Amino acid sequence: MAKKITVIGAGNVGATTALRLLEKGLGDVVLVDIIEGLAKGKALDMTQSSPLWGYNSEIIGTCNYEDTKDSDLIIITSGIPRKPGMSREDLVKVNAEIVKSVVEQAVKESPNAIIIVVSNPLDVMTYLAYKTSRFSKEKVMGMAGVLDTVRFRMFLSQELNVSVENIHTCVVGSHGDTMVPLLSHTTVAGIPITEVISRERLNSIVQRTKDGGAEIVGLLKTGSAFYAPAAAVCEMAEAILLDKKKILPCTALCQGQYGVRDTFVGVPVKLGANGVKEIVEFKLTPDELTALRKSAEAVKELCCIVDNMGI
Ligand code: NAI
Ligand code: 2OP
Repeated sequence: MAKKITVIGAGNVGATTALRLLEKGLGDVVLVDIIEGLAKGKALDMTQSSPLWGYNSEIIGTCNYEDTKDSDLIIITSGIPRKPGMSREDLVKVNAEIVKSVVEQAVKESPNAIIIVVSNPLDVMTYLAYKTSRFSKEKVMGMAGVLDTVRFRMFLSQELNVSVENIHTCVVGSHGDTMVPLLSHTTVAGIPITEVISRERLNSIVQRTKDGGAEIVGLLKTGSAFYAPAAAVCEMAEAILLDKKKILPCTALCQGQYGVRDTFVGVPVKLGANGVKEIVEFKLTPDELTALRKSAEAVKELCCIVDNMGI
């Protein structure tokens, strides 16, 4: 039987994610939005492209959570994106109300689903989805590390003029200014990156990676990135739905790993059928470890804002 995937939010990220899920044949998709007709219209449009693209999975659009019943996977993209000059943290109050309300409605219909959160500020919204759903920690995670990592890979491949497939790396930490691109785990065709790019150039590429989302916001002016984010969500969805046991950087609940306790933050995890199979502990340098812990502390501070909202 085809897997059932609910995508909440039929905006830029949600609709693009839905289309990629269909094209990859990962399951039937239910696209949900609060705006009457938006999800329905986009779903109909995607269905009409199926004879040309040749995908057989089905998609429906709806405002009604009953249509999402018994989903295997719930992807949450509802919320407002950043506007120019706005930080992800500015979004916290608005998006917390939205994420809490959609999680409550979705988990009522699909108590056995796995949840991937995309809405920003990512690590905090993932914490809120975990708290609201009361699901086990393995079943609630956030997407950001895959996106931050592909951005870093792409910038490095451009710098070296080599295939992006030759670049292996991992970005951990929060999806924000404190993210930590792991230089100690970055190689090009197996060669440590520090042997082929100067420290000065590397620092500037790391900074561009940290500013990767803001760079696109600055260009688009009316919203934020969605093509690469949607592809990153699909990478995680595929690992889960096909039980690939793939190691990907995702926001997951750390309980002692990397010295971080009771905090959702980006770490390498093994993803499979039941969600987070394990948090994989890479050997980090003392500086990287300190930076990751600092990043987790920044998430904790934002989680306090959500806790104090009393929602
Ligand atoms: P968008 O504005 O294009 O779409 C958001 C959609 O959510 C809209 O269609 C809106 O009607 C819907 N929505 C709002 N409240 C809702 C509710 N209560 N129930 C159902 N739907 C609701 O925004 P976009 O570009 O799709 O971004 C969505 C979120 O994802 C933003 O918070 C953005 O910051 C975040 N994001 C996170 C990334 C990450 O790496 N984690 C990457 C890109 C975006
Ligand atoms: C990004 O990094 C907006 O968080 C989103 O593009």
